[in-house]
Amino acid sequence: MGAQTARVSNFGDLQNEIYLAGLGGTRPSLPVTAAGLEAAAREQLRPEAFDYVAGAASTERTATANVAAFARHHIVPRMWRGTAAPEGRDLQTTVLGTALAAPVLTAPIGVLGLVHPDAERGVVSAASELGIGAVVSTASSTPMEDVADAAGQWWFQLYWPADEEVARSLVQRAQAAGASAIVVTADTPGMGWRPRDLELAHLPFLQANGIANYLSDPVFRARLAAPPEESAQALQAAVLTWLSMFGNHTLRPADLSRLRGWTDLPIVVKGVLHPDDATAVLDAGADGVVVSNHGGRQVDGAVAALDVLPAVVSAVGARGVVLLDSGLRCGADVVVALALGADAVFYGRPWVYGLGLAGRAGVVHALRCLLADLDLTMAMAGLSCVADIDRSVLVSG
Ligand code: FNR
Repeated sequence: MGAQTARVSNFGDLQNEIYLAGLGGTRPSLPVTAAGLEAAAREQLRPEAFDYVAGAASTERTATANVAAFARHHIVPRMWRGTAAPEGRDLQTTVLGTALAAPVLTAPIGVLGLVHPDAERGVVSAASELGIGAVVSTASSTPMEDVADAAGQWWFQLYWPADEEVARSLVQRAQAAGASAIVVTADTPGMGWRPRDLELAHLPFLQANGIANYLSDPVFRARLAAPPEESAQALQAAVLTWLSMFGNHTLRPADLSRLRGWTDLPIVVKGVLHPDDATAVLDAGADGVVVSNHGGRQVDGAVAALDVLPAVVSAVGARGVVLLDSGLRCGADVVVALALGADAVFYGRPWVYGLGLAGRAGVVHALRCLLADLDLTMAMAGLSCVADIDRSVLVSG
């Protein structure tokens, strides 16, 4: 094959692995679909944990719309293109300098300790085992330096606190700990109206879950009268200090220039749904956007993320990268997102259910299932690589 040796994509091998194990009487210990993982997690997890993950804002109609949007686009498979053999496919891509074995990163999801003690470390190391990326939330259950220990490529998601010095400290710690991009989330100046959590009167942060990056931050700690480890009252006071700075109502696109001054990592803005917001953040120095409605957790009634992807892609043009999350549940969804112009996707809730069911191994399983499904969909649809996936692949409507 010479210098042009094709890359081999092995993700689809999971299929043979499962069938061969079946000859010995073994079935997969976890469901292989996103819906199956969700159903199993509903059975197994505490309501506080399951509902925190599965829940969305108000009537949850945007969460439902996110998933439904993918079904309006249909792949038109092409035949006999040599893509069925593993060496006929190459799922690799590079986004913002991060090399990925497939165009997928795990979405930033906070408070993972709520579902399993493996939490963020389990996710980063699972993603790394598969050669994809992980985005670690500001609201992680584990301080970022401990997550970084788990090795693997990770990006840091920033909830930009109202306290600027804490914001700067978080960003600079992330760079020092080895993050390779900053994802700043724009859609969460506060939390959406989430009935499932409200009915359980459950907000994990108030129990000091999901604020590990603050409790371990030297600038944040300098704001406290007493170390949070000292007593229950000191911890409570730390939670209140966190609360006072979590929402940031003042941010404007121009503030990105300050973030740019704190780090030389690439910056993408997550939670963009309008093309004008995309161009505004690019004008202010962002390297790209994540089209996302936070999985329907913020504005119920908001447009499905996928439905605005083409308009954002055309507004961004060649000026930056465009990523997408919200509603991806299978391999075909990744193909649809890429065909509509996304450079890569963030995968959300399904792997969180895997984590809740079986810790790190459950995340590996959930990710392998998505990637096998993607790989085999490409094989059967005549798509040899990410660059092959464009609008011509789809019939929409
Ligand atoms: C999130 N999401 C999120 N986003 C973010 O920028 N920082 C965060 O800490 C969190 N935390 C979080 C917790 C939970 C339990 C969920 C379900 C989601 C949003 C997340 O990154 C992503 O946008 C959505 O998960 C995408 O929707 P789907 O595909 O999961 O439905």
